Amino acid sequence: MTELKLSIDKDVIDEYQGPVPKHIGVIMDGNGRWARERGMMRIRGHHAGAKTVRTIVESCRYLGCQALTLYAFSAQNWGRPEDEVKGLMSLFDLYIKKERKTILDNGIQLRVIGKRARLGPKLIKAIEGLEEVSRHNSDMVLQVAVSYGGREEILRAAKEIARLAKEEDLDLDDINEEMFSSKMYSPDLPDPELIIRTSGEFRVSNFLTWQSAYSEFYVSDLYWPDFNEQEFVKGLNSFGGRERRFGKTGEQVKNEVSS
Ligand code: IPE
Ligand code: IPE
Ligand code: MG
Repeated sequence: MTELKLSIDKDVIDEYQGPVPKHIGVIMDGNGRWARERGMMRIRGHHAGAKTVRTIVESCRYLGCQALTLYAFSAQNWGRPEDEVKGLMSLFDLYIKKERKTILDNGIQLRVIGKRARLGPKLIKAIEGLEEVSRHNSDMVLQVAVSYGGREEILRAAKEIARLAKEEDLDLDDINEEMFSSKMYSPDLPDPELIIRTSGEFRVSNFLTWQSAYSEFYVSDLYWPDFNEQEFVKGLNSFGGRERRFGKTGEQVKNEVSS
Protein backbone atom coordinates (compact mmCIF):
# COMPACT_ATOMS: atom_id res chain seq x y z
CA MET A 1 0.00 0.00 0.00
CA THR A 2 1.30 3.44 -0.91
CA GLU A 3 1.75 5.91 1.95
CA LEU A 4 -0.76 8.64 1.23
CA LYS A 5 0.23 12.23 0.52
CA LEU A 6 -3.02 14.09 0.73
CA SER A 7 -4.10 17.69 1.19
CA ILE A 8 -7.75 17.08 2.15
CA ASP A 9 -9.45 17.42 5.52
CA LYS A 10 -9.29 13.76 6.55
CA ASP A 11 -11.27 14.29 9.74
CA VAL A 12 -14.32 15.15 7.67
CA ILE A 13 -14.03 11.97 5.63
CA ASP A 14 -13.44 9.96 8.82
CA GLU A 15 -16.92 10.98 9.98
CA TYR A 16 -18.36 8.58 7.42
CA GLN A 17 -18.68 5.10 8.89
CA GLY A 18 -20.95 3.42 6.35
CA PRO A 19 -20.23 1.10 3.44
CA VAL A 20 -17.63 2.39 1.00
CA PRO A 21 -18.84 2.34 -2.61
CA LYS A 22 -16.43 0.35 -4.74
CA HIS A 23 -16.97 2.74 -7.61
CA ILE A 24 -18.23 6.32 -7.51
CA GLY A 25 -19.18 8.34 -10.58
CA VAL A 26 -19.34 12.13 -10.51
CA ILE A 27 -21.10 14.44 -12.96
CA MET A 28 -19.15 17.62 -12.29
CA ASP A 29 -21.71 20.25 -13.21
CA GLY A 30 -22.24 23.97 -12.60
CA ASN A 31 -18.85 25.51 -13.43
CA GLY A 32 -20.37 27.95 -15.90
CA ARG A 33 -23.10 29.16 -13.54
CA TRP A 34 -20.58 29.48 -10.70
CA ALA A 35 -18.49 31.83 -12.85
CA ARG A 36 -21.43 33.76 -14.28
CA GLU A 37 -22.81 34.48 -10.81
CA ARG A 38 -19.47 36.10 -10.03
CA GLY A 39 -19.44 38.10 -13.25
CA MET A 40 -16.60 36.00 -14.64
CA MET A 41 -16.06 34.15 -17.92
CA ARG A 42 -17.28 30.53 -17.91
CA ILE A 43 -13.72 29.23 -18.33
CA ARG A 44 -12.84 30.67 -14.91
CA GLY A 45 -15.46 28.35 -13.48
CA HIS A 46 -13.82 25.38 -15.17
CA HIS A 47 -10.47 26.36 -13.66
CA ALA A 48 -12.06 26.67 -10.22
CA GLY A 49 -13.67 23.25 -10.75
CA ALA A 50 -10.31 21.67 -11.48
CA LYS A 51 -9.33 22.37 -7.85
CA THR A 52 -12.35 20.43 -6.63
CA VAL A 53 -11.19 17.51 -8.75
CA ARG A 54 -8.14 17.12 -6.55
CA THR A 55 -10.26 17.23 -3.38
CA ILE A 56 -12.58 14.52 -4.63
CA VAL A 57 -9.83 12.30 -6.04
CA GLU A 58 -8.00 12.46 -2.73
CA SER A 59 -11.20 11.90 -0.73
CA CYS A 60 -12.03 8.76 -2.69
CA ARG A 61 -8.48 7.51 -2.42
CA TYR A 62 -8.47 8.11 1.34
CA LEU A 63 -11.84 6.41 1.70
CA GLY A 64 -10.56 3.34 -0.13
CA CYS A 65 -12.74 3.36 -3.25
CA GLN A 66 -11.58 1.01 -5.96
CA ALA A 67 -12.58 3.41 -8.73
CA LEU A 68 -13.72 6.96 -9.34
CA THR A 69 -15.11 8.09 -12.69
CA LEU A 70 -15.28 11.83 -13.33
CA TYR A 71 -17.42 13.16 -16.15
CA ALA A 72 -15.31 16.01 -17.50
CA PHE A 73 -16.51 16.56 -21.08
CA SER A 74 -19.38 14.88 -22.87
CA ALA A 75 -19.61 13.90 -26.52
CA GLN A 76 -22.32 16.59 -26.69
CA ASN A 77 -20.08 19.26 -25.12
CA TRP A 78 -18.24 19.49 -28.49
CA GLY A 79 -21.23 21.59 -29.54
CA ARG A 80 -20.30 24.42 -27.13
CA PRO A 81 -18.74 27.67 -28.36
CA GLU A 82 -15.30 27.15 -29.84
CA ASP A 83 -13.46 29.26 -27.27
CA GLU A 84 -14.95 27.29 -24.37
CA VAL A 85 -14.04 23.97 -26.01
CA LYS A 86 -10.49 25.21 -26.63
CA GLY A 87 -10.21 26.48 -23.07
CA LEU A 88 -11.36 23.14 -21.71
CA MET A 89 -8.88 21.21 -23.85
CA SER A 90 -6.02 23.41 -22.58
CA LEU A 91 -7.27 22.85 -19.05
CA PHE A 92 -7.14 19.06 -19.47
CA ASP A 93 -3.61 19.39 -20.75
CA LEU A 94 -2.67 21.50 -17.73
CA TYR A 95 -4.46 19.11 -15.37
CA ILE A 96 -2.53 16.10 -16.70
CA LYS A 97 0.75 17.89 -15.98
CA LYS A 98 -0.26 19.42 -12.65
CA GLU A 99 -1.85 16.34 -11.14
CA ARG A 100 0.80 13.88 -12.27
CA LYS A 101 2.55 13.97 -8.92
CA THR A 102 -0.63 13.53 -6.85
CA ILE A 103 -1.66 10.61 -9.05
CA LEU A 104 1.70 8.86 -8.87
CA ASP A 105 2.38 9.65 -5.20
CA ASN A 106 -0.91 8.07 -4.18
CA GLY A 107 -0.81 4.85 -6.19
CA ILE A 108 -3.57 5.95 -8.56
CA GLN A 109 -4.00 4.55 -12.05
CA LEU A 110 -5.28 7.05 -14.61
CA ARG A 111 -7.58 6.06 -17.46
CA VAL A 112 -9.28 8.34 -19.91
CA ILE A 113 -12.46 7.01 -21.51
CA GLY A 114 -14.29 8.42 -24.53
CA LYS A 115 -13.58 9.12 -28.16
CA ARG A 116 -10.03 10.30 -27.67
CA ALA A 117 -9.20 10.60 -31.37
CA ARG A 118 -11.02 13.95 -31.30
CA LEU A 119 -8.74 15.37 -28.62
CA GLY A 120 -5.78 16.27 -30.81
CA PRO A 121 -2.27 14.77 -30.88
CA LYS A 122 -0.70 16.85 -28.11
CA LEU A 123 -3.35 16.08 -25.52
CA ILE A 124 -3.53 12.42 -26.57
CA LYS A 125 0.23 12.14 -26.06
CA ALA A 126 0.03 13.69 -22.58
CA ILE A 127 -2.84 11.37 -21.61
CA GLU A 128 -1.11 8.28 -22.93
CA GLY A 129 2.10 9.24 -21.12
CA LEU A 130 0.37 9.40 -17.74
CA GLU A 131 -1.72 6.31 -18.42
CA GLU A 132 1.47 4.44 -19.20
CA VAL A 133 3.46 5.47 -16.09
CA SER A 134 0.48 4.90 -13.79
CA ARG A 135 -0.76 1.64 -15.29
CA HIS A 136 0.73 -0.59 -12.60
CA ASN A 137 -0.75 1.47 -9.77
CA SER A 138 -3.42 -0.55 -8.08
CA ASP A 139 -4.72 1.47 -5.13
CA MET A 140 -7.44 3.28 -7.09
CA VAL A 141 -8.48 3.72 -10.70
CA LEU A 142 -9.23 7.30 -11.68
CA GLN A 143 -11.24 7.34 -14.88
CA VAL A 144 -11.80 10.64 -16.56
CA ALA A 145 -14.59 10.63 -19.13
CA VAL A 146 -13.64 13.06 -21.89
CA SER A 147 -15.40 13.25 -25.24
CA TYR A 148 -17.54 10.56 -23.66
CA GLY A 149 -21.16 9.56 -24.15
CA GLY A 150 -22.94 6.57 -22.65
CA ARG A 151 -24.94 5.90 -25.81
CA GLU A 152 -21.79 6.24 -27.89
CA GLU A 153 -20.08 3.67 -25.66
CA ILE A 154 -22.99 1.24 -26.11
CA LEU A 155 -22.96 1.76 -29.89
CA ARG A 156 -19.22 1.13 -29.96
CA ALA A 157 -19.77 -2.16 -28.12
CA ALA A 158 -22.63 -3.12 -30.45
CA LYS A 159 -20.46 -2.48 -33.49
CA GLU A 160 -17.66 -4.61 -32.10
CA ILE A 161 -20.11 -7.44 -31.42
CA ALA A 162 -21.55 -7.09 -34.94
CA ARG A 163 -18.02 -7.30 -36.31
CA LEU A 164 -17.36 -10.48 -34.34
CA ALA A 165 -20.65 -11.94 -35.60
CA LYS A 166 -19.74 -11.14 -39.17
CA GLU A 167 -16.08 -12.03 -39.22
CA GLU A 168 -15.55 -14.52 -36.44
CA ASP A 169 -18.57 -16.69 -36.42
CA LEU A 170 -19.98 -15.52 -33.10
CA ASP A 171 -22.99 -17.44 -31.89
CA LEU A 172 -26.02 -15.22 -31.12
CA ASP A 173 -26.57 -17.10 -27.86
CA ASP A 174 -23.15 -15.92 -26.71
CA ILE A 175 -24.38 -12.33 -26.70
CA ASN A 176 -25.46 -11.75 -23.12
CA GLU A 177 -25.01 -9.04 -20.49
CA GLU A 178 -21.63 -10.30 -19.44
CA MET A 179 -20.35 -10.39 -22.99
CA PHE A 180 -21.80 -6.94 -23.71
CA SER A 181 -20.19 -5.53 -20.57
CA SER A 182 -16.85 -6.93 -21.69
CA LYS A 183 -16.99 -4.58 -24.69
CA MET A 184 -17.31 -1.42 -22.57
CA TYR A 185 -14.31 0.83 -21.91
CA SER A 186 -13.41 -0.63 -18.50
CA PRO A 187 -14.87 -4.11 -18.20
CA ASP A 188 -12.70 -4.87 -15.18
CA LEU A 189 -14.38 -2.23 -12.99
CA PRO A 190 -17.54 -2.84 -10.99
CA ASP A 191 -20.56 -0.72 -11.97
CA PRO A 192 -20.75 2.58 -10.07
CA GLU A 193 -22.70 2.10 -6.87
CA LEU A 194 -23.06 5.82 -6.31
CA ILE A 195 -23.34 8.64 -8.85
CA ILE A 196 -23.08 12.19 -7.55
CA ARG A 197 -24.22 15.14 -9.62
CA THR A 198 -23.63 18.73 -8.57
CA SER A 199 -25.54 21.95 -9.35
CA GLY A 200 -28.98 20.60 -8.46
CA GLU A 201 -29.72 19.00 -11.84
CA PHE A 202 -31.63 15.72 -11.77
CA ARG A 203 -30.50 14.10 -14.99
CA VAL A 204 -27.82 11.73 -16.24
CA SER A 205 -26.77 13.59 -19.40
CA ASN A 206 -25.43 10.50 -21.15
CA PHE A 207 -23.14 9.36 -18.33
CA LEU A 208 -22.34 5.64 -17.90
CA THR A 209 -25.67 4.66 -19.47
CA TRP A 210 -24.97 0.93 -19.45
CA GLN A 211 -23.19 0.80 -16.09
CA SER A 212 -25.64 2.96 -14.12
CA ALA A 213 -28.62 0.59 -14.41
CA TYR A 214 -28.63 0.10 -10.62
CA SER A 215 -26.60 3.06 -9.39
CA GLU A 216 -27.78 5.15 -6.48
CA PHE A 217 -27.95 8.88 -7.24
CA TYR A 218 -27.11 11.83 -5.04
CA VAL A 219 -27.74 15.35 -6.27
CA SER A 220 -25.94 18.18 -4.51
CA ASP A 221 -27.19 21.74 -4.84
CA LEU A 222 -23.66 23.11 -4.80
CA TYR A 223 -21.94 24.07 -8.01
CA TRP A 224 -18.91 21.91 -8.71
CA PRO A 225 -16.30 24.55 -7.72
CA ASP A 226 -17.98 24.77 -4.28
CA PHE A 227 -18.25 21.01 -3.75
CA ASN A 228 -16.05 19.85 -0.86
CA GLU A 229 -15.30 17.10 1.65
CA GLN A 230 -18.38 17.96 3.78
CA GLU A 231 -20.73 17.75 0.83
CA PHE A 232 -19.08 14.53 -0.33
CA VAL A 233 -19.73 12.99 3.08
CA LYS A 234 -23.37 14.08 2.83
CA GLY A 235 -23.60 12.12 -0.41
CA LEU A 236 -21.97 9.11 1.21
CA ASN A 237 -24.35 9.27 4.17
CA SER A 238 -27.30 9.38 1.84
CA PHE A 239 -25.92 6.36 -0.03
CA GLY A 240 -25.16 4.50 3.20
CA GLY A 241 -28.73 4.92 4.43
CA ARG A 242 -30.39 3.38 1.40
CA GLU A 243 -31.68 -0.11 0.91
CA ARG A 244 -30.49 -1.40 -2.45
CA ARG A 245 -33.01 -3.97 -3.62
CA PHE A 246 -32.01 -4.80 -7.22
CA GLY A 247 -35.60 -5.69 -8.07
CA LYS A 248 -36.18 -7.84 -5.00
CA THR A 249 -38.45 -7.08 -2.04
CA GLY A 250 -37.25 -5.35 1.11
CA GLU A 251 -37.93 -8.55 3.08
CA GLN A 252 -35.77 -10.63 0.74
CA VAL A 253 -32.91 -8.16 1.05
CA LYS A 254 -33.12 -8.17 4.87
CA ASN A 255 -33.12 -11.96 4.93
CA GLU A 256 -30.09 -12.08 2.65
CA VAL A 257 -28.20 -9.73 4.97
CA SER A 258 -29.09 -11.67 8.13
CA SER A 259 -28.37 -15.13 6.67
C1 IPE B 1 -19.68 21.28 -16.10
O1 IPE B 1 -20.03 22.61 -15.93
C2 IPE B 1 -18.43 21.10 -16.92
C3 IPE B 1 -18.64 20.70 -18.32
C4 IPE B 1 -19.76 20.30 -18.82
C5 IPE B 1 -17.50 20.74 -19.18
P1 IPE B 1 -20.89 23.39 -17.00
O2 IPE B 1 -19.95 24.06 -17.96
O3 IPE B 1 -21.90 22.51 -17.63
O4 IPE B 1 -21.59 24.48 -16.10
P2 IPE B 1 -23.10 24.97 -16.21
O5 IPE B 1 -23.95 23.76 -16.13
O6 IPE B 1 -23.22 25.67 -17.53
O7 IPE B 1 -23.25 25.87 -15.05
C1 IPE C 1 -22.85 16.98 -18.24
O1 IPE C 1 -23.04 18.33 -18.01
C2 IPE C 1 -21.48 16.74 -18.77
C3 IPE C 1 -20.41 16.97 -17.83
C4 IPE C 1 -20.52 17.29 -16.58
C5 IPE C 1 -19.10 16.80 -18.38
P1 IPE C 1 -23.79 19.26 -19.08
O2 IPE C 1 -23.83 20.61 -18.48
O3 IPE C 1 -23.15 19.13 -20.41
O4 IPE C 1 -25.22 18.58 -19.14
P2 IPE C 1 -26.63 19.19 -19.55
O5 IPE C 1 -26.45 19.86 -20.87
O6 IPE C 1 -27.00 20.18 -18.48
O7 IPE C 1 -27.54 18.02 -19.58
MG1 MG D 1 -23.79 22.02 -17.13
